[in-house]
Amino acid sequence: MLEKKQTKKIEEILTEIDLEQPAPAEEPMRQYYFMEKARRLVKTQAETLGRPLTFHVTTFGCQMNARDSEKLTGILEQIGYVEEEEENQADFVIYNTCTVRENANQKVYGHLGQLNRVKKKNPHMLIGLCGCMMQEPEVVEKLKKSYRFVDLIFGTHNIFKFAELVATRLESDRMVIDIWKDTDKIVEDLPSERKFSFKSGVNIMFGCNNFCSYCIVPYVRGRERSRNPKDIIREIESLVADGVVEVMLLGQNVNSYGKTLEEPMTFAQLLQEIEKIEGLERIRFMTSHPKDLSDELIEVMAQSQKICKHLHLPVQSGSTRILEKMNRRYTKEHYLGLVEKIKAAVPDISLTTDIIVGFPGETEEDFQETLDVVRKVRYDSAFTFIYSKRTGTPAAVLEEQVPEEIVKDRFDRLLKEVQSISAEVCSVHTKTVQRVLVESVNDHDDSLVTGRMSNNLLVHFPGEKDLVGKLVDVRLDTCKGFYYLGEMVASIRV
Ligand code: 5AD
Ligand code: SF4
Repeated sequence: MLEKKQTKKIEEILTEIDLEQPAPAEEPMRQYYFMEKARRLVKTQAETLGRPLTFHVTTFGCQMNARDSEKLTGILEQIGYVEEEEENQADFVIYNTCTVRENANQKVYGHLGQLNRVKKKNPHMLIGLCGCMMQEPEVVEKLKKSYRFVDLIFGTHNIFKFAELVATRLESDRMVIDIWKDTDKIVEDLPSERKFSFKSGVNIMFGCNNFCSYCIVPYVRGRERSRNPKDIIREIESLVADGVVEVMLLGQNVNSYGKTLEEPMTFAQLLQEIEKIEGLERIRFMTSHPKDLSDELIEVMAQSQKICKHLHLPVQSGSTRILEKMNRRYTKEHYLGLVEKIKAAVPDISLTTDIIVGFPGETEEDFQETLDVVRKVRYDSAFTFIYSKRTGTPAAVLEEQVPEEIVKDRFDRLLKEVQSISAEVCSVHTKTVQRVLVESVNDHDDSLVTGRMSNNLLVHFPGEKDLVGKLVDVRLDTCKGFYYLGEMVASIRV
């Protein structure tokens, strides 16, 4: 759903655009010009076909990509495309790709093979590719050579140009490729479409300057840039006016927010400003880097009425020796110290993490250190990954890559430990009453709805569809490992 006020404003702007004039140079006006241009082209095609044109955006990877896909969707709807549930039925299919691990790339090539078969039967279909994978020159070379049926390729830095690129493709019959190496540009005020009416991701910064030695993100997402706090507040205020009660502040390393601003500001200060927004009930954020997690932030989390009791704090490894090779810039002891401080300041906090197994040179002793951290912290949940070699990163040229069967064995042992601890940690809330934001009708049983607690756990309980988007109090009756079954005790807002 496009924000109502925003739709009206953009509608007004579009009707005033004179396509006889050359495209304006400044943003976002330039994109509005191309939205209008594309809209007319789409309208003509739809009239010829006797039905609206449809689109489907498939998103791979992280929350950042999910938010980018909402932006793509907002623009496509403004242009006149209608969303289609089935990828294979859509007139315009877009893959928003991820490249953080090699298997993410393989998945995209697999999907593309299938789409090629669909396109052969349906030649007017358009296929667009964007996201992190497109920032890798070898990928684009491969697509140009072996995937000629792709229509549009663009990257992470020029996603704001989407309307212009679509218009260019609709006017020509050739593959359109536009990849930027980096940018310091942040274009505000483009349309976006939210997946949920009551919660939304909000980008607070783009890019990453950390260069963890295994990670490709700084190369494909570019240097760190923070959005102006005024723009962030304005966006959240307008989301709240449109029914949003929960925001997820997004950045690769939110704890270093504000360092690059003309008037520097800390993430903790930004959180305090966001807290003041009336009508906003919950604030989440991710991802936090342990090296930048300040006492100021811990204090703000402890005092806040709105910041959710959940911190995602990727540890990656428990071995100080490996952490150094990973260029993480903290030690095992520093990390455990942080965890202690947070648990003392916010006693009911839920902690989650990311862990990589099999980084080059990881020994059994290093792995035992990781298990030790897992046992000491007792995470509510952990995303565990097998190290994936990413060409172009410093770790890719390290010798001593760990043999596959050893990595697999460590991965299985880690997963077992993580799962048994998290089942114990999750169950401690049994019989308590928790406030939850109802997110959906249950997929398997439509007499149940599903709500999310402040600590990110889910609970299913009997309830009607009209509870979706509302905050309610629920008694947690039975813990089912990673979620609860419960009973509503009170509705907070109607
Ligand atoms: N191999 C495996 N996992 C990786 N991650 C990032 N790069 C790699 C890689 N090359 C993981 C990290 C990060 C998460 C988003 O993905 O754990 O926190
Ligand atoms: Fe990658 Fe490290 Fe930046 Fe996270 S902080 S995106 S792991 S380089």
